[in-house]
Amino acid sequence: MVGRRADGYHELRTVFQTVDLHDLIEVEVEGRGVALEVPEGGAPSGAANLAYRAAQQFLARWAPERGVRLTLRKRIPSGGGLGGGSSNAAAVLRALGELLEVQPGADELWELARGLGADVPYFLVGGTALGVGRGDEVVPLPELPEQEIWLVIPPLSLSTSEIFAAAGPPRTQELDAALQPLLLGAAPQAVADLPAVNDLEAVARARVPQLEAVYNGLTRAGATCARLSGSGATVFACFADSKVGETLAAYLPAGTRVVRAWTLNRSSLRAQFSFRGGAGG
Ligand code: C5P
Repeated sequence: MVGRRADGYHELRTVFQTVDLHDLIEVEVEGRGVALEVPEGGAPSGAANLAYRAAQQFLARWAPERGVRLTLRKRIPSGGGLGGGSSNAAAVLRALGELLEVQPGADELWELARGLGADVPYFLVGGTALGVGRGDEVVPLPELPEQEIWLVIPPLSLSTSEIFAAAGPPRTQELDAALQPLLLGAAPQAVADLPAVNDLEAVARARVPQLEAVYNGLTRAGATCARLSGSGATVFACFADSKVGETLAAYLPAGTRVVRAWTLNRSSLRAQFSFRGGAGG
């Protein structure tokens, strides 16, 4: 974290990584305006949903005569610090560009995405990437090898703005010094060697004492890494042996969801999109 900005947001230096836990979104070009159905999983329908606002703003800007029907099946928990809503919004923007055969300029699309939320631009890029500014200025990094990762999702919802508001003093010089080798001709090893610290983790642990049971459980289960994702409450963990991960739930507080996932690089992520029909259908 590099400190608070004049716009109230925090200036970040963060590394993003896509994983294969995903929602399913069907995007059909139809009628006028936006319709959104959420038949599976908990998420608002209508304008309270970021995917709806993404479609609405895309159409208003580039295809005001057209309409879209979205069907969203949620698997990524909302409010878990995994960027599920932001990834839905970015997926809708990409799908609409393709289906309506509109090619917005990269700058215009980025501007629309960042207006929806600080993490949305990242999901237009995906893979391993550096986020600076509000996290919305995204620099693709050399991709880390795909690896297994365990997502530990406690039944706690943390407020992103409250966690950010309680963040400690900025670490500008230290972070920029660590990033310098990366920005001067990054080698994949330089990404792996970045300091593995999330400044929001200490804040979340201090404010939400129930998180201690999660970290203690992961230590007892033999995790080789355990770190808060974004502003929480999801913790991602690594195990030297996947078999150990399979018994993980027994070490964790009741109600904690454990998801075995894989990191995804940019080309694997692109392969998740399938398009049928064109501007008409
Ligand atoms: O942009 P988004 O709606 O995802 O951000 C949610 C909240 O998280 C913001 O209102 C702000 O309080 C906090 N935030 C921040 N600095 C960032 C990103 C988010 O303070 N870089």
